[in-house]
Amino acid sequence: MSYRVAVLVSGSGSNLQALLTAQVCGELGAEVVLVVSDRADAYGLQRALQHNVAAAFVPLQRPRHMATRTAWEQRLAAVISAFTPDLVVLSGFMRVLSAAFLTRFPGQVINQHPALLPDDGGDMVCTSDGRVIPTLRGAHVVADALRLGLTVTGCTIHYATPLVDNGPVLARVEVPILPDDTPESLHERIKVEERRMIVEVVRDLAQQSAARQERR
Ligand code: GAR
Repeated sequence: MSYRVAVLVSGSGSNLQALLTAQVCGELGAEVVLVVSDRADAYGLQRALQHNVAAAFVPLQRPRHMATRTAWEQRLAAVISAFTPDLVVLSGFMRVLSAAFLTRFPGQVINQHPALLPDDGGDMVCTSDGRVIPTLRGAHVVADALRLGLTVTGCTIHYATPLVDNGPVLARVEVPILPDDTPESLHERIKVEERRMIVEVVRDLAQQSAARQERR
């Protein structure tokens, strides 16, 4: 049985593309069965369609209105559930998902974050050369790393929890910050690592799932 993956995107979806390309090359060990976006113009939806993968647009009209948001999350969860995924990847999905959503997919939702996150969920991260830098969370962490004058940042894949950008870490890679970096140049170098990392993580999780099923 194939390991089924749903990918949620809000933008370009270059990480999604890495997954789709690995799948086409037979290197993923998993099948992307659905791509969902909260934005009609997210290019990730086009990437899905180009690969004959189902694509769904689930709009959120009034993000600050609690009842609207709850109803949106329920629609989102219903669409995803219909595709019975083993794994849900938040891949540049720029919405925070509540505990109610996450409990629909227990231990199945992972998030890509373009900065280093610590194992202990704290406010500081140790780098490989022993430096201690602040944990960057939120939607502007690439610019934040530059603004704070850091010389190293990176990317992390972790299990999603109701706490934003916080949860058990699956993989993490450091990326040096160069003196002439702009947010764009830095983010692009981070994404190079992210694209490699997401393929590895999905492949590993698919293999672990297959091994568990064999033991049953
Ligand atoms: C990635 O850098 C991902 O870590 C980040 O959005 C980018 C998506 O790139 N996610 C977040 O910032 C989530 N808060 P892509 O659309 O080219 O795959």
